[in-house]
Amino acid sequence: MNEFGEHPNSRRKFLGLSAAAAAVSAMGPRFSEAQSSRPTERHVWVIARPALDEEFKPDVLRWETRPLPALKENQVLVRTVYIGMEPSVRNMLRLDDVSTPVQMKVGDVMPGGGIGVIEESTSPKYKKGDAVLAGTGWADYAALDAAFVRPPRAGVPLEANMTVFNHIGIAAATGMLHIGNVQASDTVVVSSAAGATGSIAAQIAKGAGAHVIGIAGGADKCKYLTDELKLDAAIDYKKENVEESLKKLAPKGVTLFFDNVGGAMMDAVLMNLAPNARVAICGQIALYNSGNRNDGQGVRNLMQLVFRTARMEGFLNPPPERRPEFEALFTRLLNEGKLKTRTHIVKGLEKAPEAFNMLFTGANEGKLMVEVSPLS
Ligand SMILES: NC(=O)c1ccc[n+]([C@@H]2O[C@H](COP(=O)([O-])OP(=O)(O)OC[C@H]3O[C@@H](n4cnc5c(N)ncnc54)[C@H](OP(=O)(O)O)[C@@H]3O)[C@@H](O)[C@H]2O)c1
Repeated sequence: MNEFGEHPNSRRKFLGLSAAAAAVSAMGPRFSEAQSSRPTERHVWVIARPALDEEFKPDVLRWETRPLPALKENQVLVRTVYIGMEPSVRNMLRLDDVSTPVQMKVGDVMPGGGIGVIEESTSPKYKKGDAVLAGTGWADYAALDAAFVRPPRAGVPLEANMTVFNHIGIAAATGMLHIGNVQASDTVVVSSAAGATGSIAAQIAKGAGAHVIGIAGGADKCKYLTDELKLDAAIDYKKENVEESLKKLAPKGVTLFFDNVGGAMMDAVLMNLAPNARVAICGQIALYNSGNRNDGQGVRNLMQLVFRTARMEGFLNPPPERRPEFEALFTRLLNEGKLKTRTHIVKGLEKAPEAFNMLFTGANEGKLMVEVSPLS
């Protein structure tokens, strides 16, 4: 295990800084003279305009330096270490009131969070040097009410707080176990199966004894699915016709589909559903990267739900009483070496917009995070 608490089953990928980004990076935080370790300003990515283009454009965001005032009572100053890149934030950037439950506006700091370290505290609960989970936004420092940070989960690698014991793992378990009620008799398909959420969903289904087929973009990701995650088959949607491949791989039909993608890929799977199949909608990433929410590829084959008496259901959170059960399952699978995760780390807050776009080009291999500063 390294300083990041890296689990032996995880694989990390690093990107270097480009020359331009390195130049921005040289503008480090300014420190007060009285407290040499205490910055007086912070760097943030803020929303500069609504993202109404047909793909994500970096000028939607603006790099700003803002003052970092003294802490009020019961606050903490968090130095950001890792920020998770979340696809659904692309929907928020349209700045309308229907694309997501959270409405953002021009000037807001890009939402996000991950792992940080306390640099200063007026809360009795935290002291300088503590690692915490915090919604810092896309910023190098954040002053937050102590109630809005929490300690990492004890007894697991720190990294697992970003890859498993958060909305990623919980979504995978909710879709596969609560909505999908996966059984050993199931033939399961997972889209974006090599991604952060999909890979956990697929491994939960394998753990339940199901026959699992993953869909991913490219030979390397498909090889990862079959060779390392031990899925029964993988479909490279960039090369294969998903509808035809599924006919061969699941001749009796797909009984449970965990969908991260939507659009044409969902249409292809709908044409292969078995009678009484369940479809758990985790996300629709094929539709996010568009300025107009009506411009995405609509699903055309919904009538198959009628013909095949199938059920489709979306989800965000599990019922609270199931969360401990899911977390216990993750702990067991991790300890048994049956839950593998990958992190893909891009170094430098300046690179965050570039990193974010990787979610939509498929350039990320595993949970995509930006490393803003070293852990220690
Ligand atoms: N419901 C919830 O609570 C919840 C929670 C977390 C995540 N999610 C959803 O889960 C999905 C995956 O999120 P993640 O954070 O785990 O990201 P991820 O899967 O690690 O990364 C995104 C991946 O999506 C694939 N992708 C992007 N555009 C695509 C397109 N047009 N067609 C097909 N594949 C495409 C790419 O993989 P390929 O190389 O395979 O194309 C890319 O690597 C998203 O839809 C997200 O909104 C939902």
